[in-house]
Amino acid sequence: MILTIVKYPEPVLEQPGEPVTEFNAELRKLVADMFETTYASQGIGLAAPQVGVSKRITVVDLSMGKDPKQKLVLINPEIILSEGRQYEEEGCLSFPDIREKVVRAAKVRIRAQDERGKWFEMDGEELLARAFQHEIDHLDGIVFLFRMSALKRSLNLRKIRKMQNEGTW
Ligand code: NI
Repeated sequence: MILTIVKYPEPVLEQPGEPVTEFNAELRKLVADMFETTYASQGIGLAAPQVGVSKRITVVDLSMGKDPKQKLVLINPEIILSEGRQYEEEGCLSFPDIREKVVRAAKVRIRAQDERGKWFEMDGEELLARAFQHEIDHLDGIVFLFRMSALKRSLNLRKIRKMQNEGTW
């Protein structure tokens, strides 16, 4: 089922998600729906708050549905190591038509649970490292607008307000 993606400034996007404690069929259904929603929007990742669910769940798939081995489910994820720096363009499904360069660590190691509750660790570099940091930020109630420079943030906020006024946001 394709879920509705909420747009900034929906308050749920700025609330920290609750930890997941039950790894049941309901959770697995939500995860499946989140993948379906990500693919329908041609995204590479989605966090539960973006579909209005304030929980620490995110899905990432750099292949956009083409390679099942690249489907990653991160539940209660944390970044346990980060190093280096990258400055590349990002987008977010809750900010349609906005793309901006954001500073991120070049490499990260994450620790997370899978949809059965099993803990694992994984390293990511470049785009994958960016996706991990962007999605884990969502679970902490941080949207990428707040990772931009103050100038870019205000320019993008103005652009959003203009689109809101025109009814195109
Ligand atoms: Ni996002």
